[in-house]
Amino acid sequence: MDFTGFVLQHLPPPPARVLEVGCGSAGGVVPALAALGYEALGVDPDAPEGDGYVRARFEELEPGRWDVVVAGRVLHHVWPIAEGLDRLAAFAPLLLVDEFASDRIDEAAQDWYEAQHRLWQVARPATPPAGAAAARRRWRRARASW
Ligand SMILES: C[S@@+](CC[C@H](N)C(=O)[O-])C[C@H]1O[C@@H](n2cnc3c(N)ncnc32)[C@H](O)[C@@H]1O
Repeated sequence: MDFTGFVLQHLPPPPARVLEVGCGSAGGVVPALAALGYEALGVDPDAPEGDGYVRARFEELEPGRWDVVVAGRVLHHVWPIAEGLDRLAAFAPLLLVDEFASDRIDEAAQDWYEAQHRLWQVARPATPPAGAAAARRRWRRARASW
């Protein structure tokens, strides 16, 4: 099941207010939710331009006006995570997350992860994902401090 399917399984019925944190440059689940009648907003420094998106870090938003926060593969970028989760908990009573335990990734898993990035760059050299290089630098810095 993809992230959109997972989110749809757990959302209350529309018209709930849903904030997608870290929707990415492709726009995340926002279009699918909007089409179903949700009030959906994606927040990400790399968000697409246009209605339904804010180019910002979620920490810059006012908390408390959402029914649900969703975040797919984002929280491993948030540091310190405890503060980030406290802040997200103040945004909405329901938080739907797809994440991995970055503190449990061993060398073999990190090698695999970085090899996937290298393969992706070979396959699609003309369209690197926005922010990918910076994300990898942050990732390596965070790994070095564990
Ligand atoms: C691995 S990408 C995942 C994008 C998308 N959710 C997906 O699954 O394809 C992580 C995204 O989180 C965003 N991000 C990282 N920290 C963030 C923050 N504090 N607030 C909002 N977005 C953030 C990054 O800009 C990036 O687009």
